[in-house]
Amino acid sequence: MNSNSQSPRLAGKVAIVTGAGSGFGAAIALRFAREGAAVVVADIDPAAGDRVAAGIVGAGGQAVACAVDVAQGASVERLAGFTTQTFGRLDICVNNAGIAQRYGPILDVAEAEFDRLMAINVKSLFWCVHAIAPVMAAGGGGVILNTSSASALRPRPGSAWYNTSKAAVNGATKSMALDLAPHRIRVCALCPVAADTPLFAEALSGLASTEAERARLRAQFEAGVPLGRLCLPEDMANAALFLASDEAAFLTGVCLEVDGGRTI
Ligand SMILES: NC(=O)c1ccc[n+]([C@@H]2O[C@H](COP(=O)([O-])OP(=O)(O)OC[C@H]3O[C@@H](n4cnc5c(N)ncnc54)[C@H](O)[C@@H]3O)[C@@H](O)[C@H]2O)c1
Repeated sequence: MNSNSQSPRLAGKVAIVTGAGSGFGAAIALRFAREGAAVVVADIDPAAGDRVAAGIVGAGGQAVACAVDVAQGASVERLAGFTTQTFGRLDICVNNAGIAQRYGPILDVAEAEFDRLMAINVKSLFWCVHAIAPVMAAGGGGVILNTSSASALRPRPGSAWYNTSKAAVNGATKSMALDLAPHRIRVCALCPVAADTPLFAEALSGLASTEAERARLRAQFEAGVPLGRLCLPEDMANAALFLASDEAAFLTGVCLEVDGGRTI
């Protein structure tokens, strides 16, 4: 399933990608598999995970789906165990699962919504450190990638607690990089600008109720990106592949903008 004539860049590696049933995660899982990795397609939506895994296998790659809720420690423990039982090791984990906040006034966000954002977008990293990092360390090291957002670096109004959760992801990335370096685990983050995924549609639904309003808002987002378009899942897959590969062996604690210049 190699995508080019060079040797596959993730040959022999085993990767978990969370939130891989859709959007960025699905593109990352597919790209990793094309580059020789065996991929665990981990998502809270089992049907979505199964679909993506079947697509990878159908294209000649190695993948299995595993249901997970990244906000639950026991669930992440099961994911780590499933991965080593299935593929014998664990080299890469992309903490990509996340949820959005609907754009709207800051005082309209209920405590339960705040807690859910933090549990899925931030506490998931705590569970990764507890359940995934020790397995990697025991195997001689690995790579953890955290999907952050350009909003961590250049927040937009109306999305305060989502922006905050992603700023925490960048902070956690640097601290995890320091504390896990002695275990030969590199930790980096990806900071994408808006992309046409179900998550973006959910975020916009707070501001737009008609198709025409959504199109106008989308055009506004696009106009704010110097390179003139939104992020594509393939942009994220390319950046994740580089950071996960041995070409990035000396990079850790890096929060890489994948944003067409939005945060300059
Ligand atoms: N799309 C954007 O505009 C955008 C911009 C910047 C950053 N991001 C970030 O990119 C990541 C992926 O987002 P996307 O746009 O591909 O979204 P998406 O909605 O297409 O996919 C997210 C996936 O995560 C899964 N998921 C949700 N909660 C989960 C949980 N608790 N456990 C396991 N899986 C869970 C969903 O089922 C879904 O398949 C998120 O972290 C998001 O914050 C997205």
